[in-house]
Amino acid sequence: MSKDQFIIVAIDGGAASGKSSTSRGLRDRFCLMRVDTGSFYRSITLKLLEAGVEAKSNAKLNQALEKMELKTEIESGDAMISIDGWTPDESIRSERINHSVSDYAALPEVRGRLLQYQRNQKEVAQENGYSGLIMEGRDIGSVIFPDANVKLFLDASPEARALRRAKEGIVDSMEKRDRIDSTRKTAPLKRPEGSIIIDSSEMSLEEVIDEAAKYIEAALNS
Ligand code: C5P
Repeated sequence: MSKDQFIIVAIDGGAASGKSSTSRGLRDRFCLMRVDTGSFYRSITLKLLEAGVEAKSNAKLNQALEKMELKTEIESGDAMISIDGWTPDESIRSERINHSVSDYAALPEVRGRLLQYQRNQKEVAQENGYSGLIMEGRDIGSVIFPDANVKLFLDASPEARALRRAKEGIVDSMEKRDRIDSTRKTAPLKRPEGSIIIDSSEMSLEEVIDEAAKYIEAALNS
């Protein structure tokens, strides 16, 4: 690709596989707009819970999703979802949301509501002068941007992942989330075709960022 071409980097992986810290490092190194799609699913989950909408396919869910006005605000290089004028805070990382998010994210209606919105982040990044987009989630390289210039799949041992969450002081149902995420019918968590696996169990964050950066450099120079 030529230097002035817009680059798309997709990062997928399970809970606590290191996607967020890695994508933040790459965002800053390559001046990319970062999109944490997990925060979108978490925000929608919070709004549906607040409205008393259960994680079930029915008219109430459809109505609630249809009514939501989704916009994007950029904060320090991160695309933040805004739902009816509300932007997420730390409450989307609570135990309650960790517990419920995968049930809502498994619903085709919820995924459908976010599909085009996620793809539109490319235009948001371009309009705001970024040279590329780094998007992390579960189905970015497989469904959202299957033609991304770089597709990374992060992995880590269960021990390394549990240790990370313990250090962050977060209570998370990681195994349960991964099980629901990888067995759902619509856009399950899986290694996207053509993706590069980085197992970060024995690596420092800097090492993971450096390793991922090599593939981005290679794409930019190809
Ligand atoms: O990335 P994070 O752990 O914050 O994601 C929270 C949840 O959102 C995941 O466990 C998954 O259920 C859902 N998710 C998804 N598809 C994405 C990103 C997140 O289903 N692309």
